[in-house]
Amino acid sequence: MKKKNLITIGDLTRKEIFSIFKLAAKLKNRPLSKKRALGNKTLALLFQKPSNRTRISFEVAMVHLGGYVLYLSPREIDMGKRESVKDVARVISRYVDGIVGRVFRHQDIQDIAKYSDVPVINGLSDLAHPCQALSDIFTVREKKKKFGNITVSYVGDGNNVLNSLLLVGAKTGINMKVATPSEYRPRKEIFDEAAEIAKKNGARVEMFQDPYEAVKGSDIVYTDVWVSMGDEQERAKRLNDFKSFQVNSALMRAAKKDALIMHCLPAHRGEEVTEVIDGKNSIIYDQAENRMHVQKAILLRMLG
Ligand code: CP
Ligand code: NVA
Repeated sequence: MKKKNLITIGDLTRKEIFSIFKLAAKLKNRPLSKKRALGNKTLALLFQKPSNRTRISFEVAMVHLGGYVLYLSPREIDMGKRESVKDVARVISRYVDGIVGRVFRHQDIQDIAKYSDVPVINGLSDLAHPCQALSDIFTVREKKKKFGNITVSYVGDGNNVLNSLLLVGAKTGINMKVATPSEYRPRKEIFDEAAEIAKKNGARVEMFQDPYEAVKGSDIVYTDVWVSMGDEQERAKRLNDFKSFQVNSALMRAAKKDALIMHCLPAHRGEEVTEVIDGKNSIIYDQAENRMHVQKAILLRMLG
């Protein structure tokens, strides 16, 4: 049987996404109901960048499923410097049953998947953050208790998180409205693909220049940092380029009255978002919690 990988949302069909959501909902209800499912299985977390949510949610998920985890910090392996990506992937996959990789260059997670004999999950690259987007759309459904006729607006950087969100949204029939500065649009091929898939699923993906236009009538307003990990040298320029794309109370007034606020975190209050992120319509911590439930379902699918 061909090993499964989750490198981008393109690796999952609409049906598979819904089945992950169904299993995640069950596991959220009964977190220890599969406590022997991954007994004696080991997952390596091979991370080139720091992490709170991704690392901890995968670690605890494995514990709840009866497995083991090895966290390999950037200093441990020094992939690409101390050893080639190929050798790292070939060797680690001789020891463990699955690898979650967090890398700077998307090419590196593709290469890990290419050379590894065991399933590889993308725990964030510069291009994609599939586990994040899956739990986010799971959260949207949980809050809205439906899929049809929901509109999520994303305001800010057209980055890894947005690329993945667009595709999960499209596959599950959620309308997506996006506003980014013109220099920071999501990848064109990803946007076009999402628009095409969304159409088949009775939804729409639209791009706006003006964040106020983008959030008009929206159920959910989503943002992410303006300076992602790896973009630090562009910080001053980015803060300037994004300054009219802040999610604040004025912008939230342009969305639906009860519009919810989402952010993958970490958040930088005063930059991409203001104190609205701490208000009653913010669902950021539910979103963070759901990473664990959804990733359990992913792990069961891939390693079970
Ligand atoms: N949202 C997210 O992936 O958080 P971490 O970078 O803390 O893992
Ligand atoms: N876009 C952010 C997401 C962090 C979870 C980054 O890549 O740093």
